[in-house]
Amino acid sequence: MAGYVEMRALALGAAILVWGGQALGFEPVSGYEFLDESTRAMQDDEFENPGMVTVDEGRDLFNERRPDEEASCASCHGEDGEKLDPAVIARYPIYDEHLGGLATLQDRVSYCWENRLDRFPLPYDDPQLVALETFVRNKARGEPVNVQTDGPMSPLIEKGRQLYSTRFGQLDMSCYHCHVQHQGQMLRGQKLSQGQANGFPEYRLGTGRITSLHHRFGECFRSFRADPFEPGSEEYRLLELFVMQRGNGLPIETPAVRF
Ligand code: HEC
Ligand code: HEC
Repeated sequence: MAGYVEMRALALGAAILVWGGQALGFEPVSGYEFLDESTRAMQDDEFENPGMVTVDEGRDLFNERRPDEEASCASCHGEDGEKLDPAVIARYPIYDEHLGGLATLQDRVSYCWENRLDRFPLPYDDPQLVALETFVRNKARGEPVNVQTDGPMSPLIEKGRQLYSTRFGQLDMSCYHCHVQHQGQMLRGQKLSQGQANGFPEYRLGTGRITSLHHRFGECFRSFRADPFEPGSEEYRLLELFVMQRGNGLPIETPAVRF
């Protein structure tokens, strides 16, 4: 029950403070800055970073031409995705009428999988889609996140912001409590970061697995004993948008290494 008491204290502590939002003086800080030296070194070294295995899997899927098919992803986007533009990838999630409005990078991959290659659709966060997403985003490593915030995006960001500060579950907590109000503090032996998304999909030392952003959201929900939404749900897309634009300017780190 120690965790309960600890988190209850976080929730109550924040209740009396008002959310200043990101208006003035908000500086996005990557989760990287909250890591110890050795984990940073592991992330930075292409050969040591365990997430690179997933990048390689994604590359294979990308280049693979199946016997019964006329094209591969590479047929349109170049061998190893050489025609993909890092600046375009850094703009995801995007607003695109063709893709039904708000679209994450995984939605885009999934759309091409289904419509350009005429393959059987896969559920959101299917390991093949996550591997392709990891490979594609890794192409933009170092590129600053650059999500559109005006036009049709602004009402959607507002919805995302509302979800971000909505209290859920028995502990009555919101994302905001841990990642805005209490960033830098320790919770169950972990230092709370801003909960930025510039390193996703990322490799997790705790589980030894690659983790999608929507999966991470689910873990956070469970950590404060709230029922998670489904990967690919409207709620997680809006949260992804809100969290990604909150990190505009941070370099893409995919695959980041985190605990
Ligand atoms: C028949 C050609 C074709 C195939 C095959 C194809 N795509 Fe695409 N892809 C496109 C087009 C066209 C766009 C949209 C480009 C634009 O809007 O300017 C696109 C856009 C993208 C984007 C967004 C970046 C960008 O440049 O807009 C990604 C990522 C992507 N595709 C990944 C994939 C993956 C992964 C596969 C294999 C599962 C794949 N594509 C297969 C034609 C294709
Ligand atoms: C009870 C505290 C708590 C709450 C509430 C919480 N999280 Fe987290 N979250 C964590 C912890 C602990 C971590 C791992 C350490 C860190 O990066 O902060 C984490 C990590 C993350 C990360 C990954 C950061 C990185 O650099 O890898 C994201 C993204 C995130 N949270 C988003 C959210 C969102 C969105 C919500 C609201 C649905 C939320 N969190 C609510 C505790 C919380």
